[in-house]
Amino acid sequence: MSDAADIDYFALGLEDFDESARLLEDDFFPREPLSIGTHLVTSASTGKIGRKLRECLASGVSFGARDVKTRSLVAVRLSYTATKEHSADEDPVDEEKSEYEIKVSGLIEEVASKVDVFQDHDVNKVLYMYMLCVRRNYGGRGIGKKLVRMTMERGKDLGCQLAFTTITNVLSGRIFAGLGYETRYTLDMSTPEGDRGMDLAAMDGNRTVRIMTIRL
Ligand SMILES: CC(C)(COP(=O)(O)OP(=O)(O)OC[C@H]1O[C@@H](n2cnc3c(N)ncnc32)[C@H](O)[C@@H]1OP(=O)(O)O)[C@@H](O)C(=O)NCCC(=O)NCCS
Repeated sequence: MSDAADIDYFALGLEDFDESARLLEDDFFPREPLSIGTHLVTSASTGKIGRKLRECLASGVSFGARDVKTRSLVAVRLSYTATKEHSADEDPVDEEKSEYEIKVSGLIEEVASKVDVFQDHDVNKVLYMYMLCVRRNYGGRGIGKKLVRMTMERGKDLGCQLAFTTITNVLSGRIFAGLGYETRYTLDMSTPEGDRGMDLAAMDGNRTVRIMTIRL
């Protein structure tokens, strides 16, 4: 599939691990608000993030975008699915966690736990949006939105009844709101209750961590 901007969209697989990790290290962690707000750096190919990246690439619900001319990977929509029976996202006991993973992934998990995705009796399988990244010189062309749409279509085909995303960046919030997602929970880090020690001044106007969902 390609568009007028000479971009090819395709389903990601495990063979895309190294390129995806590089893209996250170049263009996700240096720009994602919580990563900026902690002033911490992390590897995308090791530890919990490396394990989740592999899970997303093997899931069949992760998509990428390639520049047709240069053949370079310019965007990834990393996602995975979970069922009611296998929903526990427990970390292996011997898994090493970086300071980044403790702080950022810990906060994301805290906020995610506020929403019961299986509250509706007919929801058994959920599509989880993990990381969305579009290289900075390809931003604002609708690539992010298109990848989210493709992921939702595939998730629905695979039997998911609900899609779930954690929003830390107002730009991606616009993508999901535009697609009809509803906000289920908001942590406002600029309030005393929401303060988690992030450097809000560095976060480019981003102050909240939000959970958004949509029925598929
Ligand atoms: C967030 C991100 C994925 C958006 O990707 P994108 O391909 O630029 O998104 P789209 O082109 O589909 O645009 C999404 C919305 O943001 C707007 N937008 C995108 N880049 C913009 C920019 N530089 N300035 C102003 N608006 C911008 C678009 O106009 C669109 O809004 P609209 O639907 O109201 O028109 C990308 O900026 C990114 O990778 N950021 C760093 C990592 C990150 O924060 N990921 C999300 C964590 S929740």
